Amino acid sequence: MYTHKDLAQLQAQSLKMQGFIRQQTYSPQNEKTLRRFSSWEVAELIFKVNQSTMRGRLAADPSLPQGQVEEDGRQRWYTLDEINELRRRLKVNRRSLMPYRPAGKRAMRAAIANFKGGAGKSTVALHFAHAAALDGYRVLCVDFDPQATLSHSMGLSDVAEEYTVWGIMARDLAAETTRMNAASQGAESGATLPRRRLPSSITDMGLADLRVSDFIKPTNWPTIDIVPSCANAAFVEFASAQYRHMNPEWSFFAAVSRFLDQLPPEAYDLVIFDCPPAIGYQSMNAVFAADMLYIPSGPGYWEYDSTTSFIGQLSEALEDLSRFSGLVPAGTMTLPKAFLDLRFLLTRFEPNNDLHRAMQQAFIKVWGDRVAEHPIEMTRAVEQSGRFLSSIYEIDYRDMTRETWRRARASFDQAYDEFRTHLGTAWDKLEDEA
Ligand SMILES: Nc1ncnc2c1ncn2[C@@H]1O[C@H](COP(=O)(O)OP(=O)(O)O)[C@@H](O)[C@H]1O
Ligand SMILES: [Mg+2]
Repeated sequence: MYTHKDLAQLQAQSLKMQGFIRQQTYSPQNEKTLRRFSSWEVAELIFKVNQSTMRGRLAADPSLPQGQVEEDGRQRWYTLDEINELRRRLKVNRRSLMPYRPAGKRAMRAAIANFKGGAGKSTVALHFAHAAALDGYRVLCVDFDPQATLSHSMGLSDVAEEYTVWGIMARDLAAETTRMNAASQGAESGATLPRRRLPSSITDMGLADLRVSDFIKPTNWPTIDIVPSCANAAFVEFASAQYRHMNPEWSFFAAVSRFLDQLPPEAYDLVIFDCPPAIGYQSMNAVFAADMLYIPSGPGYWEYDSTTSFIGQLSEALEDLSRFSGLVPAGTMTLPKAFLDLRFLLTRFEPNNDLHRAMQQAFIKVWGDRVAEHPIEMTRAVEQSGRFLSSIYEIDYRDMTRETWRRARASFDQAYDEFRTHLGTAWDKLEDEA
């Protein structure tokens, strides 16, 4: 017979082996780094200006970052920091190269959600984050999925679970419970509400001492940070159910939203949420904090089916939250939850596949302009190569068939450009910061 003790022992054996393998295989090359970008990419793909115009501007002002020349050729290669300096300092045809950001607003928050695993959520989140960073935006990602695909892709592998969304939720529970206790003590109604007590397992975690910035880690991209996840955070769902039991009036779904509200409004431009393949405490936090909802779906019939039930269940879960109105201080949240934009995005789409095209027509017929115009095409370019999953933006075009790279890049670029247009429109509608 086997009990939890046997399982724990089996896991301990495995962890020991994992540690050993890591030690044996560790080398500095296992740290994910960001490549440089060629002058061709910087001019035509990133700034969208003529290469010769760019060359002329750089020649005219030697104080501008000049990149590095590689032995093989004429191209200069620039780091993202250099590209961003060029962006700040150059104007082309009196046009600023800075990306759109309306004044007086906080960062926009976009959730990539669907409860089907393999829908392409993490791939879309990774590519939108990288495309936005190349576009000049400062990006914060929040990985809500204990499978931690996005965290790994961004070069984070050793993450302690208290610094994940779980830590944010436990910290919020402690803070909200303290607030609610103080509020009910201060109430003059005479009816004394019972004090809610949290067990020392939560109050002793030291979460109250953590600063907002403690949860945010740098990635291999200088302008992208992440609140990472890790496999150990898989018990968030389980723990959250217990937490709700300790304080049933705790608006558990707003923990991450409250966390993000504590960031300086200017700290980031875009916050991207990668969601777990389920509707639960974590995904409700992602969805509730989001201004925009992007729902990726594969182009098959079963994927259409499961996307349909996803929006049904999400609708019910969001409706359910209305019972929390009145339990939070006025002005801190609005129920029912309203998104500034909502889109379906077809992924792994093969333009020459009749079934895929038929499914695309079906999506459009049913959801009309809620379906993003540019699907993300199926490509061999984003298949995992080596230790880290890399985006098409990270892969050096000299390392693969140029046509495959170009085609994949064009597909993600088009989907991102469309996303950016919707982002801008939604951003204008976002309430001004007080
Ligand atoms: N456009 C694409 N072309 C080819 N493979 C893709 C594409 N998008 C996703 N994949 C692959 O499909 C698998 C699942 O994608 P992923 O983004 O991790 O889905 P999810 O996060 O929804 O579970 C991964 O192996 C990924 O490499
Ligand atoms: Mg994923």
